[in-house]
Amino acid sequence: LMDHFDKNYELEHQIQGTNKEPLLDDIRSLIDSAQYTFIRQREMKGLGHAILTGKELVGDNPFAVVLADDLCINEEQGVLAQMAALHRQFRCSIVAVEEVPESETHKYGVIAGEHLSDDLIRITDMVEKPEQGTAPSNLAIIGRYILTPDIFDILENTKPGKGGEIQITDALLEQAKKGCVIAYKFKGKRFDCGSVEGYIEATNYCYENVYLKGSKAEIDKDSTEKL
Ligand code: G1P
Repeated sequence: LMDHFDKNYELEHQIQGTNKEPLLDDIRSLIDSAQYTFIRQREMKGLGHAILTGKELVGDNPFAVVLADDLCINEEQGVLAQMAALHRQFRCSIVAVEEVPESETHKYGVIAGEHLSDDLIRITDMVEKPEQGTAPSNLAIIGRYILTPDIFDILENTKPGKGGEIQITDALLEQAKKGCVIAYKFKGKRFDCGSVEGYIEATNYCYENVYLKGSKAEIDKDSTEKL
């Protein structure tokens, strides 16, 4: 990952002066637009534990969690930018949700709560990967979160849950009970690139809609935007 977001001198040298050189512009501007810092999660103790590993780095700031196997695309505003705007309005944690068939709910964290509007739900219940037939709704959390930093103290006191792992879903339910967590039915498409079918679907979609049509789809490139 560190190399991925760094200069590749050999490749750049080979491309320089060829008709492929303009392709470097996007990569260069992305790399120059941010500072990249890395932390390793040395043990596989779950997503909540992985997030807790970033505590010192994040400090006392709201921050985004992006699970890269969920690819989110929207023709206009990117999904994370939509969520950042909501965070500015509500000043609390925001999770992205999507309706899934009941047969799929066991793969996700699933939420329930009171509707504030068509696309906003104030969370009152959340279950990580519920057993078939026990999900509190069909609204599944997808891999985009904006979290307020008080989540770290909660995570430090969160006991291992589903699968013996420290789950962000359990910590978020605690945060919801103490204050407010909002689920947002985002505008856009989401592909589960962690499955072969989802990965192929995403590739075909991007080929048709981004590559061929040259659409200006926002693929979360605005994720570095300040909250
Ligand atoms: C994680 C979360 C789950 C969420 C999912 C979204 O699960 O634990 O709550 O619904 O990401 O992709 P994972 O897919 O890592 O098993």
